[in-house]
Amino acid sequence: MKSIDSTACVAVIGAGAMGCGIAQVAAQAGHYVWIYDAKENAGLQGRAGILEGLDRQVEKGRLTPSDREAVASRLNIATSIDDLSRAALVIEAIVEDLKIKQQVLSSVEKVVSEQTILASNTSSLSITAIGAALQRPERLAGLHFFNPAPVMKLVEIVAGLASEATVLEALFDTALAWGKSPVHATSTPGFIVNRVARPFYAEALRLLEEKAADVATIDTVMRESGGFRMGPFELMDLIGHDVNAAVTRSVFDAYFGDPRFKPSLTQQELVAAGWLGRKTGRGFYNYDKAKEAAPDNVRQEAIAPTAVAVEGDLGPAEPLLSLIENSGIAVTRGPGQGLIRIHGASLALSDGRSATARAASGEPADLVLFDLSLDYLSTRRIALAKADQATAKALHAATSLFLSIGKSVSIVDDSPGLIVMRTIAMLANEASDALLQGVGTAEDIDRAMTLGVNYPRGPLAWADSVGPHRILAVMEGLQNAYGDDRYRASHLLRRHVAAKQPLCSASLGSKHSGAMP
Ligand code: NAI
Repeated sequence: MKSIDSTACVAVIGAGAMGCGIAQVAAQAGHYVWIYDAKENAGLQGRAGILEGLDRQVEKGRLTPSDREAVASRLNIATSIDDLSRAALVIEAIVEDLKIKQQVLSSVEKVVSEQTILASNTSSLSITAIGAALQRPERLAGLHFFNPAPVMKLVEIVAGLASEATVLEALFDTALAWGKSPVHATSTPGFIVNRVARPFYAEALRLLEEKAADVATIDTVMRESGGFRMGPFELMDLIGHDVNAAVTRSVFDAYFGDPRFKPSLTQQELVAAGWLGRKTGRGFYNYDKAKEAAPDNVRQEAIAPTAVAVEGDLGPAEPLLSLIENSGIAVTRGPGQGLIRIHGASLALSDGRSATARAASGEPADLVLFDLSLDYLSTRRIALAKADQATAKALHAATSLFLSIGKSVSIVDDSPGLIVMRTIAMLANEASDALLQGVGTAEDIDRAMTLGVNYPRGPLAWADSVGPHRILAVMEGLQNAYGDDRYRASHLLRRHVAAKQPLCSASLGSKHSGAMP
């Protein structure tokens, strides 16, 4: 264990939301903590806020009164940077401005010992660039907590070009000692989480802009079929569009305008209108009114077919067949390309091409595509889209099949990759590129996404469960459909498909591992 000594002094600069959260974490881990803020009284107010939070924990029985007193006695307010001289670790959590962070850390460096570790909680600035202004850039690394810091387990330990390995190890072990789940990341724009998560928002915005479905439908499908805790629009409303758009903009600019990270005009309009989400009472949803009911654009009786004929392998959608059989519908199997045939319709899992394009290239004209689901057995909802060539009766028959096995159905326009499949493919593709570029290990990238943004499964393991070849096909389908570099497949994804290897070694032997051809 190379963590800083549990009796060592920790300094936190900036008594805002993050600084106070981090100070609380360090004090609860047993450190004497000095909080410094340039704004008069901000430190005292911050400390009072932390203690109020602890009081609520005492009321709920989660903290004993004596532990609360002990934590309070370890939280001190510094009135100048000079007061931080004894700190073994200084964590900066001030305004997100490169010059100001450089100035503050340069002055810290002058008063602390050469062995002191300096850390920045920056969420978007380059650790290398912050370190460039320091005498000892090797003593600096990123220590990126998530909001609220006392609750969120993830901490990204970010290596700048000059960061010393011993500093990174000490921060990693210290985060562990503080009860966190740290991951290593390199100083690249957005680190792991803020980069890999971009498509979660961006694809939903794009689908909305293309009128593939409305806000509530996309959110509901992502929650009930994708298994995400919140839909993308609900989450953007919660984060605040000013904040979410600024992160997207900063990652887009930092990657020199890569179309994968292109900001959305729709979100820009919301920011311009001051409709920033929950905090202003209006974003994609209007919080002054009762929340709009979950949409159900399907109103029909379930008339179960008596039999279905399955042609070929349905891949990740195979579990649907047991549900169909358990509903008393006879299933026969034969060779083919992954179709469920019922009277009047042919159903297939989305593969990144539109149903219309597939029907035009030799697949049945009555083609109806269904979306990916996190778990077909337990999912409550399935999104469907019909080919333009298919009749309304085909869609009716396909809908009936899903209703008769107990699923709700959302009908969406015929968009390449539908909603969940497209989002998962883009998340996995971004995670693959982050892995290719050494931003983190496969396990750390997946862990970061499950702990930092609560994804139900890491994107690389998810891709493995679907089958990396299917994810690659979706990316190629999207790129063909749009002719847009935004959808270019990661070289690493191609390589793993060619080698028939999973993206994440943790997927080896997993029951979810998608068979590769
Ligand atoms: P905040 O605005 O709540 O707090 C910043 C505090 O820093 C203020 O109290 C301000 O008075 C103080 N400050 C500003 N300049 C200072 C200086 N020169 N010297 C000393 N104190 C100074 O900001 P927040 O949200 O706590 O963010 C702080 C840092 O954490 C930023 O770098 C941000 O990017 C990062 N971060 C924020 C997250 C969030 O969800 N809010 C999540 C993860 C990282």
